[in-house]
Amino acid sequence: MNDSRFTDDIAHAAQRIQAGELVAFPTETVYGLGADAHNELAVRKIFAAKGRPADHPLIVHLASTDAARAWAASWPAAAAQLAAAYWPGPMTLIVKAAAHVPAAVTGGQDSVGLRVPAHPVALALLRLSGRAIAAPSANTFGHVSPTRAEHVASEFGAELATILTGADCEVGVESTIIDCTVSPVRILRPGRITASNVARVVGALAPPAATANDVPRVSGSLASHYAPRTRTRLVTPQALLARSASGALGTISFTVHPAFAGVHRVCIGHSPAQVEHDLYALLRELDAAQLTEIWIETPPAGEAWDAVRDRVSRAAHHITTESNA
Ligand code: TXA
Ligand code: MG
Repeated sequence: MNDSRFTDDIAHAAQRIQAGELVAFPTETVYGLGADAHNELAVRKIFAAKGRPADHPLIVHLASTDAARAWAASWPAAAAQLAAAYWPGPMTLIVKAAAHVPAAVTGGQDSVGLRVPAHPVALALLRLSGRAIAAPSANTFGHVSPTRAEHVASEFGAELATILTGADCEVGVESTIIDCTVSPVRILRPGRITASNVARVVGALAPPAATANDVPRVSGSLASHYAPRTRTRLVTPQALLARSASGALGTISFTVHPAFAGVHRVCIGHSPAQVEHDLYALLRELDAAQLTEIWIETPPAGEAWDAVRDRVSRAAHHITTESNA
C-alpha cells in the first residue's frame, strides 16, 4: 500500500477528527467514513463524499454505553439489556435522539442510531479524539461496503485525505440495526447478531417490516443497495449446476461447486460467518473482473443466513427489477 492517505497513526487521525476532517477507519463490521458528530460542517462532508441523500441518517459511534446514553432522549429497558449483552460489538440501537443531536446526523428524524464498536482501532480513535463519530460505511452511495483499507481508497478521491488502517473487518457485513423506539423492538437490518440473539435478551421481537416503505429512512433498506456494477443475479443451486456454457460469468456459491470451464468461479465456504466475512471482498473481486454477469446462489434457509440473504438480495436487485420491467 503506497497510497499516502493510508496511516496507522491513530493520534494523527484523532486530530483530523477534532479539526473537522473526514477519517475512514476500520470497525469489526466494515470500514466507516467518520466525522465529529457534533460538527455539522464535518458531517456534511460525509454526505458530499458519499453522494448520499441528506435525509439518510448516520450512525453515531461512541466509546462506551455511558457515552451512547448521552445521545439518547430516553433509554428503554430493551436498549439497556441489549447494550449490556452486545456492546462493544456489531449492533446499532435506534433510540429517541437527545436534543443536542444535530439534524444533519438524524436526517431530521427524532431518532438516532448509536453503536459502540469493538474494533480496537475504532475504539482508540473514539477515545483519543474524545468525540462521538458519525460514520456510514465508507463506500459511495449504493455501492458495496469496504472491508479493507484498499477498498476505501478505491471508492474516494482526494476528498478523503486520511484512511486509518488496521486489522481486517472481522465480521464483514454491517451491524444489526435494532429499533428500540418501538415495543417490542424490531430488527431493521440483519447482521451477525441474529434475531434469536436479540430475542434471548429482550424476549419477543416485532416482525421485520414487510416492505421497505415501512422504514423509509433506512438507506440500507433500499432494494438496490450493496450493488456491484456488474449485472448480478440470484440463482438456485440447480441453475448454477445446469449452467455449463462458457462465458464471462462469475459465481458465488454456498452449497454447490459448479465446475465451469474457462469461467471465473469463486466458491466460498459453508459457514455463514465465513461467508459474511468474505462476501464484500468477493463481490468487489468479481466486479473488477470484466464479467458479463455475476451469479450468486440463493443462500440456504435459516436465520444464520439472514444477513447474507439480505445483502445478496439487494446486490442482485437491479437485475430483478430490470427483468421485471
Ligand atoms: O456496521 C455498521 O453499521 C457500519 C459501521 C461503519 O459502523 N455503518 C453503517 O452505516 O453501515 P450506514 O450509514 O452505511 O448504514 C446505517 C444505516 C442506514 O441505512 C441508515 O439509514 C440507518 O442505519 N439509520 C441510521 N440512523 C437511523 C435512524 N435514526 N432510524 C432508522 N435508521 C437509521
Ligand atoms: Mg452503508
